[in-house]
Amino acid sequence: MAPNRRPRFNPVKLLEVDGERYLVSLWGHTDWSRNLRSVGMATLRHRGQALRMRAEEVPPPERPRVLQAYLAGATRAATLDLLRAGSREPDAAHLRRIAPDHPVFHLTPMEATMIDTSEMNVVHVVFRREFRNLPALVRAVPAGDTARAAVVRRHVDFMFIFLTHHHEAEDAALWPAVSGRVPADLVSLMEGQHRRAHAAIEAVGPVLSRWCGTADPADREELAGLLDQLHAVLIEHLDAEEQRMLPVAAATLTQEQWEHFGRVAKTGPIAPVPLIIGMLRYETDPGHFRVIMADMPAPIRAVLLPLARLAFRRCARRVYGTVTPPRLVEVAEV
Ligand SMILES: [Fe+2]
Ligand SMILES: [Fe+2]
Repeated sequence: MAPNRRPRFNPVKLLEVDGERYLVSLWGHTDWSRNLRSVGMATLRHRGQALRMRAEEVPPPERPRVLQAYLAGATRAATLDLLRAGSREPDAAHLRRIAPDHPVFHLTPMEATMIDTSEMNVVHVVFRREFRNLPALVRAVPAGDTARAAVVRRHVDFMFIFLTHHHEAEDAALWPAVSGRVPADLVSLMEGQHRRAHAAIEAVGPVLSRWCGTADPADREELAGLLDQLHAVLIEHLDAEEQRMLPVAAATLTQEQWEHFGRVAKTGPIAPVPLIIGMLRYETDPGHFRVIMADMPAPIRAVLLPLARLAFRRCARRVYGTVTPPRLVEVAEV
């Protein structure tokens, strides 16, 4: 299944040889075999069960053994024709000759090697929530109320820094790690969407400054419109990253590579760590949140978690006037 398109389903025959599982492309270099070669993974569905498998192409010199097993179990004459074998026991030279024209993939279950990328979704929930709320925050500022505009601006600036840092960390440590393991156009899509989000942030800057000086209603509406546009660009990207990139990253990256990205994402110019942790915690299942925080030394966690709660409540009260600002689900229902 290609991660950059809708799933495609192809009926294939699963072959077992000496306890190992293989797929043989009888029709030669087909769309599905090219697709499988580039993606390196597939979901096998059989009798209502789905199993995610890593698919490694078997080099041509090693294929005759598998092709021979395929032929031995063939029940249809068409199979013999497709492998141009003529018999279920063709000679070794014939199998070596046809091997390059018939891709063979060795399948191994992926579940044991899948890494947990759900922390990314937790961060994305914060972006989805806060960037969805920003236009409404701006529109609610009364004309001429520069003091309130300054409060909103501080939050906008903070979210811009947070998002920019997240994207820079992905650009620096995540896309290079998956590069070569996912279709190149998927990495290009991610990078292009980051650039579009950055351009949308840049477009907000001058209008935000102007509005903060006067809290003028015309500037306010222009600013809110730009924030709406930024939100649309961001949601398109978060959807693509979660639906198309993260499943492949989970299946292809090592735990070490993922943790390296995590370290890059957690270091940098974001000073208010307690506030960020408080934001992450707000809409995360408590059990899941404990898992996310598990790699932090217990003494630091003991100090940081109360601070995070306090920082989030302070920020929420200042920005939204309540310690329970609109949640993502509530906002989505508006
Ligand atoms: Fe992300
Ligand atoms: Fe991203």
